[in-house]
Amino acid sequence: MNSPLQMIVDCDPGHDDAIALVVAAKYANLVGVTTVAGNAPIAATTRNARIVLDMIGSSAPLHQGAHRPLVAPPRDAAYVHGESGLDGADLPAPSRAADSNDAVSYIIETCRATEGIWLVPTGPLTNIALALRSAPDLRDRIAGISLMGGGTFGNRTTVAEFNIWADPEAAAMVFEYGGKLIMSGLDVTHKLQATPERIAKVRALPGRLAAVLADLFVYFSDVYVSRHDNMLGGAVHDPCAVLALTHPQLFTTVDQHVRIETSGELTRGMTVIDKRGLIERLDPNCTVVWDVDAEAAFDVIVDSIGSFSN
Ligand code: BDR
Ligand code: CA
Repeated sequence: MNSPLQMIVDCDPGHDDAIALVVAAKYANLVGVTTVAGNAPIAATTRNARIVLDMIGSSAPLHQGAHRPLVAPPRDAAYVHGESGLDGADLPAPSRAADSNDAVSYIIETCRATEGIWLVPTGPLTNIALALRSAPDLRDRIAGISLMGGGTFGNRTTVAEFNIWADPEAAAMVFEYGGKLIMSGLDVTHKLQATPERIAKVRALPGRLAAVLADLFVYFSDVYVSRHDNMLGGAVHDPCAVLALTHPQLFTTVDQHVRIETSGELTRGMTVIDKRGLIERLDPNCTVVWDVDAEAAFDVIVDSIGSFSN
């Protein structure tokens, strides 16, 4: 698609990462894709990213990134995404390997060569932090960073969301980088659920891509419904980071100050959001996404999938 929005999606597919890639390929100029260890080890997330790009016929460059967090021990999310990172569907074999094993250099070189690219991280922030640390000039080259992570409640600990919890030191660097930052956390992503009725819309589309993604939605949603008291389907987290850019009219945001807790015994990986109504609240460094028109947002996702279906 001819879109003024240029994106590098940095991901750890991951069911919802896969959907984020499809939405980005439809509604933005998907400049490139980089992978990070998170939901599954790096070999699996890279393989999965290649499979998704193959299925949508995308020739976007794919570069493999960090195999572990900066400081934290590597811990995946097989309890949500399965051992492969994309359990639940019969997937085709990937056509080829990644274009390199140096996602960080790819991000730096690409953002230096072309101004105004959005970085869209949908996994742990390791690659993005390493790129910003090696090349602080990127702050003034990129359009900004729109990430999925954080929130006022946790899913990996009481207060920590998985992507931030997996690499809190990297997240701290990203939240302090000083440029435009948009955060789609659990508060908004849990409002966008893949209910059976919504998954049926994907299932009704023609072609293999839609069938595979419907199967992935079913697996992911079954996990969420079985692990929560009151959910009707999987939280469609990662597409929110893309949609917040491509379809901002569907979201409600507030500019606020957000910092990452890296040392708390009970709170490591927490996004500390200054929601105070006091005049001494800290200056905003982040656009926090709080609400979404879920029906409309899911219809955009269905349209994206449909556009690659035949
Ligand atoms: C985030 O963690 C992963 O399991 C998902 O892909 C998403 O990026 C949600 O906490
Ligand atoms: Ca993810």
